[in-house]
Amino acid sequence: MDSGAYSSVSIIIFLAAIIASAYYHSAEAAMSKGSFEDNFSIMWSQDHFTTSEDGQIWYLSLDNDTGCGFQTKQRYRFGWFSMKLKLVGGDSAGVVTAYYMCTENGAGPERDELDFEFLGNRTGQPYLIQTNVYKNGTGGREMRHMLWFDPTEDYHTYSILWNNHQIVFFVDRVPIRVFKNNEKPNNFFPNEKPMYLFSSVWNADDWATRGGLEKTNWKLAPFVSSYKDFSVDACQWKDPYPTCVSTTTKSWWDQYDAWHLSGDQKMDYAWVQRNLVIYDYCKDSERYPILPEECSLSPWE
Ligand SMILES: *[C@@H]1O[C@H](CO)[C@@H](O)[C@H](O)[C@H]1NC(C)=O
Ligand SMILES: *[C@@H]1O[C@H](CO)[C@@H](O)[C@H](O)[C@H]1NC(C)=O
Ligand SMILES: *[C@@H]1O[C@H](CO)[C@@H](O)[C@H](O)[C@H]1NC(C)=O
Ligand SMILES: *[C@@H]1O[C@H](CO)[C@@H](O)[C@H](O)[C@H]1NC(C)=O
Repeated sequence: MDSGAYSSVSIIIFLAAIIASAYYHSAEAAMSKGSFEDNFSIMWSQDHFTTSEDGQIWYLSLDNDTGCGFQTKQRYRFGWFSMKLKLVGGDSAGVVTAYYMCTENGAGPERDELDFEFLGNRTGQPYLIQTNVYKNGTGGREMRHMLWFDPTEDYHTYSILWNNHQIVFFVDRVPIRVFKNNEKPNNFFPNEKPMYLFSSVWNADDWATRGGLEKTNWKLAPFVSSYKDFSVDACQWKDPYPTCVSTTTKSWWDQYDAWHLSGDQKMDYAWVQRNLVIYDYCKDSERYPILPEECSLSPWE
C-alpha cells in the first residue's frame, strides 16, 4: 500500500483516536490464558491445526487437500468479541481466512452471521478485508476495505461489538463498519439468536481474487494463519432460559455509550470512509436498484 496516500494530519488524528479508544474500552475483557480446548473445538481437520509450545498461539493451515476451522464451544448474544490474527503471507491469492460469528455451525438456511473475511492476494498486492451481515440465511451486505498495514507481517486485533442498537466491526480498535438498528428499526438486524465465534482458512480461488481469475499456487502450500489473545466480554447463552436479554442494562454494551460511536470513533470512522472503502453494497445501485432499507440508517446517530 502506498503510505504516501495518507496525510500526516490523518495519521495524527488516527493515533489520537487509538489512545482515546483504548480509554473508552477501560472495561477490557479478560483474556483467556487457558488452553484452546477450554473454549474452542476444531470443526474439521484436526491434523491441520497446531499450537505454539505454550499453547497460546494457534495455527490453521490450508493445503491442496483441505483447510481447517475452529469454533467456540459456547454461544453468546451481545457483547465484545476480539482476537489477534496474523494472516497468510506472500503469494496467497485464492486463500480466504474467515473470522466470523454465526448462529449455526453450518451454512443453514436460517442462520444469522457477522463476517470478517480476509482475501489473499498476489505477492506485494494489498490484502482486502470483506465484512458481511446475514439474517435468517440472507446476506448480500458486503463491504470491502483496504487496510492501513500489512496484515501478514504482524498480529492485529479484529473485534466485533454487538448489541441491540449497532454492530461495529473494529480493526485495532478503529471502527471500520457500523451496522445500525436505531431510530427507524432495521428489519435486517440480527438480534434474536445467539452466535458462536468461528475461524477457518479455505480455498476460494473460484471467486476471491479478481473474481476467481487468480488461482491458488499450491506449490506454496501450506498456507498458515495464526491466532492469539481471544477475548470475549459478552453474555454467554444458557438454554433453556437465556439470561441474555437486551433490556438488562447492567452490561456495558447495553448502555448508551455502546449504542453510538464516541466522538473520537467518529473521526476514525470518517477517515476510514474517506480513504479505505473499496466497495459498499449500499452504493451499488446496479446490484440493488432499490437499496436495502438499512442503507438509510445513519452511522453517526
Ligand atoms: C474459556 O474457558 C474457561 C474455562 O471454561 C473460562 O473460565 C473462560 O472464561 C473462557 N474464556 C473466554 C474468553 O470465554
Ligand atoms: C498435493 O500436494 C502434494 C505435495 O505438494 C502432491 O504430492 C500431491 O500430488 C498434490 N495433490 C493434488 C490432488 O494436487
Ligand atoms: C426465515 O427464512 C425461512 C426461509 O428460509 C422462512 O421460512 C422463515 O419464515 C424466515 N423466518 C423469519 C422470522 O423471517
Ligand atoms: C489484489 O491487489 C490488486 C492490486 O492492488 C487489487 O486491485 C485487488 O483488489 C486485490 N484483490 C484482493 C482480493 O485483495
